[in-house]
Amino acid sequence: MRYLSQTVLAATLVAAAAFPATVSAQESYEGGAPRNPGAEELGATTDTFLMEDGEAIYNAVCSGCHQPQGQGAVGAATYPPLALNPRLQGGQYPAWIVINGMGAMPAFDKWLSDGQIVEVVTYIQQNFANDFVDHPTAEMISDIRESAAADARATAGAREGNE
Ligand code: HEC
Repeated sequence: MRYLSQTVLAATLVAAAAFPATVSAQESYEGGAPRNPGAEELGATTDTFLMEDGEAIYNAVCSGCHQPQGQGAVGAATYPPLALNPRLQGGQYPAWIVINGMGAMPAFDKWLSDGQIVEVVTYIQQNFANDFVDHPTAEMISDIRESAAADARATAGAREGNE
């Protein structure tokens, strides 16, 4: 039962990420560079996530794309495996991707708190046959968020300068 409901939720998230933006999602692009439209689409259909445990966050938010055992998948996009993935050795890289998104992966900066990102990154670093101990800290998460915001401001400023 637990498995079924998580699967349905994960499938809903993936479907949400595939649909075009709603009006409210479009409005929220104003004044900033849309780094990753997928996040807005995902956010248009869900409140911020409430679960606090890394495993629960992974199952609700990430497993629909990266699969329940982190094995990845090839479908509408290529979802890289997180299992036995040496790029997860340091916490900075996976934390950066969760915050900023990348390609077909939505940015989760608005939908996960600092603590939730620490939890979910720690979870993927320690599961799926991974055994990495260099976990992100809440301070690292807020630094990544600040530099992403500064980048967005710089992009918006450069655009205004060109008009
Ligand atoms: C909508 C599908 C989707 C969801 C949901 C998703 N991802 Fe991803 N993720 C991707 C795709 C696609 C890539 C590859 C992006 C690229 O290389 O362009 C990726 C890449 C990554 C990478 C980099 C892997 C590597 O080898 O470089 C990490 C780490 C990652 N995701 C973690 C997560 C975590 C943690 C979550 C949940 C908080 C999550 N992802 C949710 C689709 C998703």
